[in-house]
Amino acid sequence: MNLTLVRGDGIGPEIVDSAVKVLDKIANKYKHKVSYTSVLAGGCAIDECGFPLPQSTIDACLRSDSVLLGAVGGPKWDTLPGHLRPERALLGIRKELGLYANIRPVKLYKALSGRCPLRNTESFDIVIVRELIGGMYFGKSGRAFGEMGEEAFDTETYSALEIERIGRTAFEYAKKRRKKVTSVDKANVLESSRLWREVMHRLSREYPDIEYGDMLVDNAAMQLIRNPMQFDVIVTSNMFGDILSDEASQLTGSIGLLPSASLGDSKRAMYEPIHGSAPDITGKGIANPIATILSVAMMLSFTFRLEDEAKEIEDAVEAVLDEGFLTNDIGGELTTDEITEKILEKI
Ligand SMILES: NC(=O)c1ccc[n+]([C@@H]2O[C@H](COP(=O)([O-])OP(=O)(O)OC[C@H]3O[C@@H](n4cnc5c(N)ncnc54)[C@H](O)[C@@H]3O)[C@@H](O)[C@H]2O)c1
Repeated sequence: MNLTLVRGDGIGPEIVDSAVKVLDKIANKYKHKVSYTSVLAGGCAIDECGFPLPQSTIDACLRSDSVLLGAVGGPKWDTLPGHLRPERALLGIRKELGLYANIRPVKLYKALSGRCPLRNTESFDIVIVRELIGGMYFGKSGRAFGEMGEEAFDTETYSALEIERIGRTAFEYAKKRRKKVTSVDKANVLESSRLWREVMHRLSREYPDIEYGDMLVDNAAMQLIRNPMQFDVIVTSNMFGDILSDEASQLTGSIGLLPSASLGDSKRAMYEPIHGSAPDITGKGIANPIATILSVAMMLSFTFRLEDEAKEIEDAVEAVLDEGFLTNDIGGELTTDEITEKILEKI
């Protein structure tokens, strides 16, 4: 396995280092060879070379089998103009690698059901399939002067092809699960959402065994809290997916638990926690590394088809939580290193 590590900013280096320890232990146990190339992206790249995504980082990502990323961004770079901000690096890697599908499993662990803010919710298991390289985050944006003075605009554009490929990812994923897809849009207001809905309807006819439904995003935000158990696979646009998955993360107890896989048409993909660089806890040694460790499990399963190895990591995490070993964000006192050690002991 030839991996590129993008540690990034804030807690990024702390959690990536934990995940690498877990990957090394699994690789050693199952006799796989892993080589790593570390590269800069985000704020650290701005400090070092003046821009967030150096070409050498893109080249390294393109040369590797997969990318493991921590997080980018932080207050130090918040006043930079949009095109120079650390977050541009993320968007750039996703675009350069053609990673249009972001898979975000959201699962409530039994051991953490008490951390779920909903009453009488003991379990749910949702996957949010978020479109990743289109829509508002990649549309035309800018500043202007209009009748009301200074203006700014961001545009949402989706082609039928972009919608179809993310839709197909969701339907195919649902086949392996509880066979239900909910497409989330804002078709009562947005033209891009009306096309989204038309394409999803066409696609749903190719998958008669999958139960399909549409939901407006405002209702989806409400339904996630009212009854998360009703969902299996949610498919949605870049921006709606970004917001809904952060909302959903809170139902699991902490955003520090949620991994993700960003996939394209090739096997090469990027794996990263859904959370950001958490500047408020950076350097304290208390970041929860589980989201990044579970991202490694997704990488072993999705890119390398190493299902036993992936499952061993997932089981180790679950066992550690079951035994009550918890970090601060989920009501415990273990440090990043201590919980990593507990997970390593289970492998
Ligand atoms: N993928 C990415 O790199 C990514 C994603 C989102 C935000 N960001 C950037 O991160 C910076 C901070 O953003 P934010 O504060 O809105 O979101 P954030 O996800 O970094 O933090 C939100 C809250 O969750 C907590 N948290 C996050 N990850 C945690 C973990 N692993 N363990 C324990 N607690 C954790 C933080 O301490 C904070 O209180 C910004 O610059 C933002 O642009 C980057």
